Amino acid sequence: MENFDWRERLFESLSFPTLILAPDMTIAGASKRFLEKYGYSEKELIGRKCYQILYQSGQSCPESFCPLPNVLATKKGTSMIRKTTGPDGAELYEDRVCSPILDDRGAVGYIMVSLRDVTRTKLLEVELQKTNDFLENIIASSVAAIIVADMKGVILLMNESARKLFGYTDKMAVGKSIAEYLYTPGGARSVMKKLRRPGYGGVGKLHTTEMRIINSLGEEIPVEMNASIIYQDGKEVATMGIYNDLRPKIEIEKKLKEAERIKLMQSNKMASLGHLAAGVAHEINNPLSGILIDASLMLEELDKDSPMRRQIEDIVADTNRCKDIVKNLLAYSRQTEFKKEIFNINGVIEQAFSFLREHALLQNITINKEFSSSMLMCEGDNNQLIQVFTNLIINATQAMNGKGNITVRATKDKPKGRIYIEISDTGCGIPEEDIPKIFDPFFTTKEEGKGTGLGLSTVHGIIEKHGGTIKVKETSPEGTTFLIELPLVKVTEDRLI
Ligand SMILES: Nc1ncnc2c1ncn2[C@@H]1O[C@H](COP(=O)(O)OP(=O)(O)OP(=O)(O)O)[C@@H](O)[C@H]1O
Ligand SMILES: [Mg+2]
Repeated sequence: MENFDWRERLFESLSFPTLILAPDMTIAGASKRFLEKYGYSEKELIGRKCYQILYQSGQSCPESFCPLPNVLATKKGTSMIRKTTGPDGAELYEDRVCSPILDDRGAVGYIMVSLRDVTRTKLLEVELQKTNDFLENIIASSVAAIIVADMKGVILLMNESARKLFGYTDKMAVGKSIAEYLYTPGGARSVMKKLRRPGYGGVGKLHTTEMRIINSLGEEIPVEMNASIIYQDGKEVATMGIYNDLRPKIEIEKKLKEAERIKLMQSNKMASLGHLAAGVAHEINNPLSGILIDASLMLEELDKDSPMRRQIEDIVADTNRCKDIVKNLLAYSRQTEFKKEIFNINGVIEQAFSFLREHALLQNITINKEFSSSMLMCEGDNNQLIQVFTNLIINATQAMNGKGNITVRATKDKPKGRIYIEISDTGCGIPEEDIPKIFDPFFTTKEEGKGTGLGLSTVHGIIEKHGGTIKVKETSPEGTTFLIELPLVKVTEDRLI
């Protein structure tokens, strides 16, 4: 191999476009790569100023922008990244490395400027930054509170929800070794222990667990937490905790429990009322029959114009009224006897209407029936359900003073397994303040002697026993709609009617 001095070829061999500048910024030389890349001949460059070629400018760059004064002053190399545009208008990033070439006296004789195209790296950096910003955004906007701490408990990150939940500002928490104080005594250690064991979601993970944290005011807050260790090259570098405040959930549960308790109390009250009603009705029924028979006999025996006649007629009428009340009380109490059959609810509604066929109140009422064409199979006590519909229909007719429309709709939702029955009237409606009371026993707005107020409470009891619900769907001075929901029975071969 031919022996040659590599120093001679060094400049020409540089793979980066390179210029040699005199201290006054005059171009003294250009590498072959420079001439190739920027399309200049050496003649066109030598003697021109660097800014004329690099920035196509007639004036030197501002001192803060130009690295050369610094190189001249310090005699040390420097580099800077410059954003420019290529001939096709695309973004270009160049790393301009300036290295001083010292003369024999140690002064800067020339400066070598290499232009390295770092566009690819720079664009990757920009992409990476964008991805990082996006990830940070996800963490920042998470509804769950997120805290990241290093292995010494120094807080590295706290998102907005965490700042709210724990009551800290970034200034108070980030960079501070306070992770331990975010838990009840021993809590942080217990979390770390669990994180390092396999039994709580795998090593490095802690599945959702309920615990208490301490906020900046020292208050204990119940939370649901899951956590993980963040590893880098197999080493533990940080921990991340995700917390959800349990207070709203606990509040709702408390309210539900209270509602459940009130409902239970109400149904116990209704049950004991039922027993009482049954007892009273039973005891009163016989003496009432006696009074009625005796008073009717007396009436028969009295002269037509006897002065006693009116009083005894009153006794008969009042006794009949008492018997009606007793009958209602018995119906109310009889809810405890329960037959179980499977039947089509459409048939039950039809039966209720046919019982009421002769009822004077129904004579001027238009009845619309909108029944689902398919069978609406229901399980329970046929007779009790007839009583439900007769009660509701009578109430409707009373609310309309015997004139108007009653519409009964019966449908089902097969996937949900429910039957829906709506009974609408064009009556006077129910005042808002009465709605919570209408299912209470003995609540009536009818004038004395006209209603016992047991109708709807009987209806309510029967529907509940059938696993259903009843409510006022809507009511206004134009009318009222009651909605009954009952469980739909699937009729299989072995459970045919
Ligand atoms: N369809 C309706 N439209 C308007 N108000 C109604 C309707 N149904 C019930 N109500 C109101 O609810 C009250 C309670 O009804 P419920 O059937 O329990 O007793 P009642 O009809 O007054 O007496 P009873 O049924 O013993 O004859 C009624 O007095 C009435 O004020
Ligand atoms: Mg009624």
